[in-house]
Amino acid sequence: MAAPSKFAHVVYQTHRFEEMIEWYQRIFEATVRHRDDKLAFLSYDDEHHRIAFLNLGPAESGAAPKKAPGVGVHHVAYTWKDLGELVDTYKRLKTYGVLPAVPIRHGLTLSLYYQDPDGNMMEFQIDLMGMEEADRFMRGPAFAANPVGEPFDPEQLAARYDEGKPVDDLVFRSDQPESKGHAIVRPDGANRHGPPAVAAGGPRKSSSA
Ligand SMILES: [Fe+2]
Repeated sequence: MAAPSKFAHVVYQTHRFEEMIEWYQRIFEATVRHRDDKLAFLSYDDEHHRIAFLNLGPAESGAAPKKAPGVGVHHVAYTWKDLGELVDTYKRLKTYGVLPAVPIRHGLTLSLYYQDPDGNMMEFQIDLMGMEEADRFMRGPAFAANPVGEPFDPEQLAARYDEGKPVDDLVFRSDQPESKGHAIVRPDGANRHGPPAVAAGGPRKSSSA
């Protein structure tokens, strides 16, 4: 047996072919690698395609239906490099009028859930733990008591982070000791407030628990 070496791409069928291509190009700063009347392939990195669309054409009823809740994919998740990138992405998307439907401090990740024009959900996240630490956390009592996490205010996070103030209490769940710290500071704001910047929300060594 061999496991897959990576996750490669996701393909959506849509009645909003043009709108979806435009939205994903903008949100992911993606490039269209191929496009015809039936298919479009987009990529945002060195993979040949990360997201593709099958054009279902106009909806028969006129109005294109949105994804209905129920059986099937709930969301697809993408990881950003660090908190600075996630905050900057939040601010960039906000300038398009695109806001997260749900912002959640999961504990092992900090996550913003967005919906595309068809209603497909995606999670934009940063990792807050290394693999071993995340594994311990997911097997522990706090996760058993609350496997989802807590909501947070991304606007408050962005504002405070940009001011160079610590944001540990917004990044971590209130039941995590890290939430009481003052370590996560925007690096370029670190000279104005608090201790020197560390971590900045990026992946931490699993030995740092
Ligand atoms: Fe997720």
